[in-house]
Amino acid sequence: MHNILVTPGDGIGPEVIDATRRVLDWYGKNRNFAFHVEEALVGGVAFEKTGRPDPDQTIEKARRADAVLFGAVGGPQWDKLPFTQKPERGLLRLRKDLELFANLRPALCFDALKDASTLKPEIVAGLDILIVRELTGGVYFGEPKETTILPDGQKRAVDTQAYTTGEIARIARVAFELARLRGKRVASAEKSNVMVTGVLWREVVTEVHAKEFPDIELSHVLADNCAMQLVRNPKQYDVIVTDNLFGDVLSDEAAQLTGSIGMLPSASLGAKINGKQAALYEPIHGSAPDIAGKGLANPIAAILSFAMCLRYSFGRVEDAALLEKAVERVLAEGYRTGDIMQPGMNKVGTTAMTDAILASLAKLAG
Ligand code: IPM
Ligand code: MG
Repeated sequence: MHNILVTPGDGIGPEVIDATRRVLDWYGKNRNFAFHVEEALVGGVAFEKTGRPDPDQTIEKARRADAVLFGAVGGPQWDKLPFTQKPERGLLRLRKDLELFANLRPALCFDALKDASTLKPEIVAGLDILIVRELTGGVYFGEPKETTILPDGQKRAVDTQAYTTGEIARIARVAFELARLRGKRVASAEKSNVMVTGVLWREVVTEVHAKEFPDIELSHVLADNCAMQLVRNPKQYDVIVTDNLFGDVLSDEAAQLTGSIGMLPSASLGAKINGKQAALYEPIHGSAPDIAGKGLANPIAAILSFAMCLRYSFGRVEDAALLEKAVERVLAEGYRTGDIMQPGMNKVGTTAMTDAILASLAKLAG
């Protein structure tokens, strides 16, 4: 029995998680996928109901689960809350407390969507890259992190970028291991020209590569240049490994190459300990408050996140591929949510897109 925790959260989170649960049910009925689902509060809704965006109970439930399917957090109504009560803290605490240090963000351009990107189709057609983002260190969590008042009355804010050898080595290993299963190339992105964390990052990645992964081709790229290369010629990359902040920025950029940020799934994984591995799966699009509650959200990123869950948490590689294929088919058939709409295509909302994916699953499974 697979124990799954769903945390719908805010904005379009509940809508895309509902869609994902329909897919889960399909796997339960048709693919012998025995599971139990629980639900927990996180983000702004959690703040409204419990006074905290990151209730202890949610963290505890997440620890016990085999996998967490996360929706989204945040919204303008919580913008004025103190920093420690903002909805995003819910997500950040889950990442930190569950030690989900490896964030996998595949950017894959489906053939049917090569014209949906703002980039020229020949630049993005066939794109298949994987960004491996360090997720529990760096400037997101480094101390001190504070705002103080200077003697002259000015405020001074400090965030701290810090990395240890161990933190860098373990994310590098994840990237190299994943590269082995795909194009066998890793590009490591940092700012070793201006940051000592970047210098250490490059050193450690180079060492791990030389000792453990000589079969993989490693290149180093400055993060700013990487940002440019991603829009110039993204297909030069296979796996990109980078720190928490650069990974945040570069993965949004990569998302746009695929047509829409509404398409990108992600997996956040911990270390494997006694065969158990903490895991959280999340669409990278966020809460999209402008379209929340209207039935317009693209459920594909959340549904593809469940495909990643099947692959990484439950070892169901074929079931994962089946779901990816079903999504590809639906796009080829012309179904489009607003974010990926193109002339002459069939514009649908969240429910109809999910219906189409379920119908496609049924057809493919024969
Ligand atoms: C992401 C998001 C988060 C981040 C926010 C919601 C805290 O942008 O997962 O990319 O900055 O990591
Ligand atoms: Mg982000």
